[in-house]
Amino acid sequence: MYKIVEKERLNPTVTKMVVEAPAIAKKAKAGQFIILRSHEMGERIPLTVADYDREKGLVTIIYQLVGRSTMLLDNLEVGDAILDFVGPLGVPSHVEGMKRVCVVGGGVGCAIAYPTAKALYDNGTEVTVITGFRNKDLEILRDEFEAVSHHMYTMSDDGTVGEKGLVTNKLQELLDAGEVFDEVIAIGPLVMMKFVCQLTKQYDVKTTVSMNPIMIDGTGMCGCCRLSVNNEMKFACVDGPDFDGHQVDFDEAIARSRQYADFEAKAREKDCH
Ligand code: FES
Repeated sequence: MYKIVEKERLNPTVTKMVVEAPAIAKKAKAGQFIILRSHEMGERIPLTVADYDREKGLVTIIYQLVGRSTMLLDNLEVGDAILDFVGPLGVPSHVEGMKRVCVVGGGVGCAIAYPTAKALYDNGTEVTVITGFRNKDLEILRDEFEAVSHHMYTMSDDGTVGEKGLVTNKLQELLDAGEVFDEVIAIGPLVMMKFVCQLTKQYDVKTTVSMNPIMIDGTGMCGCCRLSVNNEMKFACVDGPDFDGHQVDFDEAIARSRQYADFEAKAREKDCH
């Protein structure tokens, strides 16, 4: 059992939990994830390791209330325990040997972008961060990003925090101004990542995205997290979650995620009646 030692609401639908999981805390690297099950009857939820404390044996996860399973998880409080907590899984992000990187985080994707920005910063990379939210109330991890970036920009759809506009507006402005990045790392909604990749392709800037499809076993066996990369089938759980964004078939990934959203809506409806 994995004890919850801290729980904090970051915005109305996003929560941070710190969990005792010493074996995972010892090995976790930026970009890796865990799969948890909160109860006997709960589904498996893949979540990125948002932070870790190797000495204290703690792992931080950040989740958004998107469906039945995350609601069950959210019912747990400090002192309660999570039934299964397996990891670290996936290939760690590539964070070595880069001089200048722009990390783009959208919405709750910022929880995944943060450990990558931190690892780059710790490795001496000049880090530019662009975060994007629908509005001020949904902003998360501002202080954390400020602590691990050299330049930071925040965008919001309605202008209530940072500048009004999309993350791609700011990225284009920087690229047009002659900023040179070894790589752009984009993590957020599929549509956001798709448009970041379309933009960076025009400027010929290598772009990595973190794919977060539905996962079940996390071992490459169930095929649930498959996606097309450079016309080949890949599994996000074992081949990723990071991929070359210019090679990902985003339209297919978006269509698959919509199918699942319909299924989730029906499951929620069933639970509420
Ligand atoms: Fe089953 Fe990736 S989660 S193959």
